[in-house]
Amino acid sequence: MCGIIGYTGKNKVKPIIIDALTTLEYRGYDSAGMAVYNPDKKRTEVYKCAGRVRDLSKVCEDKNIDSTCGIGHTRWATHGGVCDANAHPHTQGSVTVVHNGIIENYKDLVEEYDLASSLKSETDTEVAAAVLDRCHAETGDPKKAITKAVRKLKGTFALVILFDGEPDVIYSIRNVSPIVATLSEEGAMLASDLTALTRFTNKYFVVPEYTIVRMTRDSVTMWTLDGREVEPEYLTMDWEKNSADKNGYPFYMEKEIMEQPKAIRDTISGRTKAGIPNFEADNIPDSLFTDCERICVVACGTAMHAGLVFQSLVKTRLQMHIDVEMASEFMYSDPVIDDKTLVIAVSQSGETIDTLEALKYARRKGARSLAIINVKGSSIARESDYVMYTNAGPEIAVASTKAYTTQLAVFYLIVYKMAHIRGVMDDDEVRECIRNLKRVPEVIGSVLDGRKAVHVIARGLLEAKDLFMIGRGLDYSILLEGSLKLKEVSYIHSEAYASGELKHGPIALITDNTPVVAVVTQERLMSKELSNIREVKSRGAAIALFIKADLIQQSTREFDTFMLPNLPDELMVFPASVALQLLAYYVSSDKGFDVDKPRNLAKVVTVE
Ligand code: F6R
Repeated sequence: MCGIIGYTGKNKVKPIIIDALTTLEYRGYDSAGMAVYNPDKKRTEVYKCAGRVRDLSKVCEDKNIDSTCGIGHTRWATHGGVCDANAHPHTQGSVTVVHNGIIENYKDLVEEYDLASSLKSETDTEVAAAVLDRCHAETGDPKKAITKAVRKLKGTFALVILFDGEPDVIYSIRNVSPIVATLSEEGAMLASDLTALTRFTNKYFVVPEYTIVRMTRDSVTMWTLDGREVEPEYLTMDWEKNSADKNGYPFYMEKEIMEQPKAIRDTISGRTKAGIPNFEADNIPDSLFTDCERICVVACGTAMHAGLVFQSLVKTRLQMHIDVEMASEFMYSDPVIDDKTLVIAVSQSGETIDTLEALKYARRKGARSLAIINVKGSSIARESDYVMYTNAGPEIAVASTKAYTTQLAVFYLIVYKMAHIRGVMDDDEVRECIRNLKRVPEVIGSVLDGRKAVHVIARGLLEAKDLFMIGRGLDYSILLEGSLKLKEVSYIHSEAYASGELKHGPIALITDNTPVVAVVTQERLMSKELSNIREVKSRGAAIALFIKADLIQQSTREFDTFMLPNLPDELMVFPASVALQLLAYYVSSDKGFDVDKPRNLAKVVTVE
């Protein structure tokens, strides 16, 4: 979950590290640090502190750092509290390390190497540094030291290492936790994720697992642990150079909400032919969708919520068996998986460890797999038989927005594709669905144009401590996501409930201090939904209603209403979701919170 950067090249390293860590801060933001080689003193110097990257900037402000080689880290605490001592980098002897992941056997290593008295922090990382240092002392060679040390480490790790005796050289090795790297005119660079590299180059490679990387200012060399040299496999990043900038928005979350029409257009584009879904460009054979008897979606958080919308569509359109599983629970629930199961792993980052492990488990059980991923070349993308990329561009705000709606767009394409090739819908029906799907960006555009009205509704929620979101069918599926969004960025306790279920218990919590957000977009469920809304209204709740324009009637005008532009009911999840994202955003920003970096969270969850 932590952000990592390493640079060795022509330029001064301090501004490069600070800049990259600022970009990577969404991965964790409780402490920050950097280590640079000081050529005058012939040793590595470490600057670090609890707090944000801006605090680290202050720590190094008046320091004369001339180095052109260094490593940096922004932390999401796992072992040890948030304090200066636990911030990375960690130095032991001749070795300085930054780390992402967890060294599971760190306690055993402390005993084996008798490290207890020499440790200055409570972190597993410092233990890894100490083991590396011991191995370095024994072998006198960084490569041999890394080879020996990693054989001792259990768990997931991306380690970036400086050895005192080798100025201007950066080493790295990883297991599971990602590292991407590049070599450009400016030097060699590596990072925990692509966003840190976008300003430098559009070429990068993913460091293979258990491969030692040695970077100098004009070379990158890699070896397997048995000493075989490995060539980097370069990929091209299709993100625009400045796509990770805020472009004048106060927060990434707002920028990313606003980018959704383009992101969805880019995701649909190239995936239809003559108005019919076509996945030739993704190299996906039709048999992937015709040979399966059941579908299982594995994902976490927002990505899992996208799966729930898909579940409704699959049931309605295909009448197929589908499960949507929280990836973190999946393996431990003895899931029914066989070679007739199509497992779909959904992830923005492509690095969520629970989703990755769930996918691996399903594949071991014989399932065929498809991944819906935003970050190219990420671990889940590489693990899956097939991949469909959501072309959302970099998503930096911790709260996911454009990744979600682009995941939905891919799911709609899959449903229409399956309905077509399984003979459930004919050409004309599918073309009509695709025509409507292609209207989604424009319709989202009009929600965005009307965002001031959502802001007005948001102002009515600023004092709320608890809140309910209610709806039925597809509306309920998207409210789960709307509620997650609100709680994570505004810290209001929000629960999404199927409207009809409310009476079976939770209605006891409704008072005049419990606002209720209701979404009504499904004509066939409307009259029941409106009855449920009146039930809570008559118990004192203030209602904020998000309703499809065509469904507005005289009786709904008594509520604070946001009118959602019309699409066929099946597609109303798009405008409704965007309106709920705006609601969460405005509540958070009006409360003065750091919208992009909610308390306790990190963007990429690489620990189980
Ligand atoms: C919430 C959010 C998280 C992620 C979840 C999965 O706004 O962003 O719930 O959706 O951690 O992350 P990915 O999609 O990267 O696997």
